[in-house]
Amino acid sequence: MVKKNASVFISGEGSNLRSLIKNSRNYTFPVKISLIVTDNKNAIGIKYAKKYSIPYLIFKNSLISEKIILNEHLKRKISIICLAGFMKILSRNFIANFKKKIVNIHPSILPKYKGLNTYKRVLKNKEKFTGSTVHYVNEKLDSGKLILSKKFFIEPDDNVETLTKKTKEIEHILFSKSLIKIFN
Ligand code: GRF
Repeated sequence: MVKKNASVFISGEGSNLRSLIKNSRNYTFPVKISLIVTDNKNAIGIKYAKKYSIPYLIFKNSLISEKIILNEHLKRKISIICLAGFMKILSRNFIANFKKKIVNIHPSILPKYKGLNTYKRVLKNKEKFTGSTVHYVNEKLDSGKLILSKKFFIEPDDNVETLTKKTKEIEHILFSKSLIKIFN
């Protein structure tokens, strides 16, 4: 199978990156993680770039940096960008110039709870369930076309920490499933 090249953008722990790298090593998986990008040079997840010998770039806050990142994507024939806990908002210019697919994983059942602090808001509103969604990225925050989502019921003793853990467990399957759905 000829795999599509993907890049993964991260800012923090990188647990979704790790699961994507692991799943992509299966020969039936449609993508290969060929590039990692971070806006945070201290992101814990960078260790996976080193561990699996995947090149990585630091995305700085400038037009030049944006151009360098875009050029690297062209050079490496990247077909899809996967935003996995990337906290920087991509500029309109970046999205328009990439011209290929960009997808994001968001820790709520969209279209509810776009933006930050989803678990806190979900708990405050006493929601019965929460979950995660993978969607295409457009110029509006967390608003592109939905690809897949998965929900779970909230237990009475759940808190931000337990919801984070449960959501990430779901995400580690959901993101890969979404890539399979896109390319198969
Ligand atoms: C995930 O929960 C994702 O939904 C959100 O940021 C978190 C990133 O976690 N956008 P990790 O860095 O992949 O562990």
